[in-house]
Amino acid sequence: GAPVELDLAPIAVGQIVKVFWRGKLIFVRHRTEKEIAEARAAPLEALIDPQPDQARVKEGHDQWLVVYGNCTHLGCVPLGHQGQYEGWFCPCHGSLFDTSGRVRRGPAPINLPIPPYTFVSDTKIRIG
Ligand code: FES
Repeated sequence: GAPVELDLAPIAVGQIVKVFWRGKLIFVRHRTEKEIAEARAAPLEALIDPQPDQARVKEGHDQWLVVYGNCTHLGCVPLGHQGQYEGWFCPCHGSLFDTSGRVRRGPAPINLPIPPYTFVSDTKIRIG
């Protein structure tokens, strides 16, 4: 499929938007300072699928999290800003994700994956 360009300027701090690329749901989340700080503060040894937050965002664009939008358990769509870690809560079997899209409680086995994307400007990304 063709790459998808997304203008980030209209996305308010705290907002999550959904886009589709190659038929797959993707969440683009404009993280608050608190959400970034919480993601950074999580000890790696506490993670089911240990990945530092810095490895999941683009340098200099820490406020933007771009992840695939289907639960890594059986593919349900998790609900944003819900659950103990205020990332996502999967209503199907209760998996919890943090503000970096990392799984914090299963049964999801791995973090929400990051699709290939680049910043084409400070306010625009190209997915794919
Ligand atoms: Fe999300 Fe099972 S599909 S927890």
